[in-house]
Amino acid sequence: MWSRFLLVFYSVVCSLCLPAGRDRPIFTIYEIPEWIRYEGYVAERHHVTTHDGYILEMHRIPYGQHQTTSATRRPVVFMMHGLMVASNSYIALGSQRGVAYNFADAGFDVWLGNARGNTLSRRHVTLDPDDSEDKSQFFDFSFEEIGMYDVAQMIDYVLNYTGNEKLHYIGHSQGGTAFLVLASMKPEYNEKFTSVHLLAGVGYQEYFPNSALRTLATFTNVIYAAALGLGIVEVDSPLSFNRTTDDSADYSLPDICDDNAEQEFLCDLETITKLIRDDVIEEDIMGSMFGGAALKQIAHYGQNIRDKSFRRWNYGAIRNREIYGSTSPPIYNISLITANVTMHYTVNDNLLDERDVLAMANDMPNTVVRRVARDDFLHADFVAAFDAKDLVTDYIIESMLQLQDIEYIESEEDDSENIDDSTESEDITDPNKPDSSSIIVLSLMIKIYLSIYALWVIV
Ligand SMILES: *[C@@H]1O[C@H](CO)[C@@H](O)[C@H](O)[C@H]1NC(C)=O
Ligand SMILES: *[C@@H]1O[C@H](CO)[C@@H](O)[C@H](O)[C@H]1NC(C)=O
Ligand SMILES: *[C@@H]1O[C@H](CO)[C@@H](O)[C@H](O)[C@H]1NC(C)=O
Ligand SMILES: *[C@@H]1O[C@H](CO)[C@@H](O)[C@H](O)[C@H]1NC(C)=O
Repeated sequence: MWSRFLLVFYSVVCSLCLPAGRDRPIFTIYEIPEWIRYEGYVAERHHVTTHDGYILEMHRIPYGQHQTTSATRRPVVFMMHGLMVASNSYIALGSQRGVAYNFADAGFDVWLGNARGNTLSRRHVTLDPDDSEDKSQFFDFSFEEIGMYDVAQMIDYVLNYTGNEKLHYIGHSQGGTAFLVLASMKPEYNEKFTSVHLLAGVGYQEYFPNSALRTLATFTNVIYAAALGLGIVEVDSPLSFNRTTDDSADYSLPDICDDNAEQEFLCDLETITKLIRDDVIEEDIMGSMFGGAALKQIAHYGQNIRDKSFRRWNYGAIRNREIYGSTSPPIYNISLITANVTMHYTVNDNLLDERDVLAMANDMPNTVVRRVARDDFLHADFVAAFDAKDLVTDYIIESMLQLQDIEYIESEEDDSENIDDSTESEDITDPNKPDSSSIIVLSLMIKIYLSIYALWVIV
């Protein structure tokens, strides 16, 4: 049942993702550095192997479009993506509006992380995520491991590689959760942050805004156990996508909607998403754009929503006592987070309530909040909206520059060779016309929020 529903679901989401017409190359998720170079920047690919064997991919934009050398040491910005996306979310808006590019142009050395298990970090020194025996072990992680191991080790790698002592951290959604976990579980890491900006960073979920999902979260354990029983440990794997694009798997959506009232929800979903994008076409390249995640990441959020508590994974009373020494899981004690944090949030966020943001800021000693000055700004808009630069990014840049040596950054922009570059770059990007890759990634974000929703509803 699960897999059939998932197949249906994938055919829904695939049909909504792509607009027709493209005049520029499309870069898959595997080609992020190529895409960055296409936008006129230098790009590097780095790999970090965690202590528990996951091989993570990182991307680096060492300097901005109008700077010509990496010889000077620049202040580092490390950026961590949200749930079920990857480092491409920070470049999706193109060279003028993409957050990563904006930071690079402002004089920062930009590093983009990828969490274990996403399409780019879906590798391990001994475990094969596609092997039916290995996969349950490979995907046995949630955002806690991403924060405590992946983010910690990527940060160490970046600091060592660049010779910097500290960096600026940017985390969107789950990228914010990962920071909260790391800085509370390993408080020594607080020293490594010059500043931290969380964009709708999810932690406390006492007032989780979506009441339907809140009700469904009550069944988290049942859902998760059922999924494990069926061998489902991963969401949006490249393999599951391949299955649906296979010609022999004939699950076209209109047929199902005609025949089967059971799946009405999905048909409604299709109608809704068609309204969002009525210019959709199907395209199998989509398969390589998915971010992917472990089901346990979503289940862990589900537990926290259900329990109205930001705490560690709940194994059940008996195992909790073995592992944690208490029948209920310990909380993440965010009062131990001493780093200077700004929590950016929006009042119209469907996954994070203002009251929870304020409560977190109240419990963290050096934290301020900043409400986005557009009330209909959404959860994904931090990386997907065209006005994110004016409303959020410019503020962050200014605030980070104040903590750095601004003068040397500005003097570097004065390179004489750059006059040619800038005339050339003029026709490259109209900020209001994203290229095809951008549109795919932005469409994916819509898909991701729908799919989180669908994951709960389907089972
Ligand atoms: C730090 O970087 C140097 C070279 O840049 C490398 O030899 C060393 O192994 C790195 N250390 C760690 C802990 O990554
Ligand atoms: C998915 O299919 C494509 C093309 O058939 C193939 O190159 C790719 O390796 C497949 N991905 C996985 C994870 O099997
Ligand atoms: C959280 O940390 C603070 C500061 O060390 C401490 O006073 C408090 O008791 C801790 N709370 C819990 C629940 O562990
Ligand atoms: C936070 O910022 C204040 C002033 O802005 C500074 O004095 C303090 O050292 C900073 N704390 C950390 C942990 O960087």
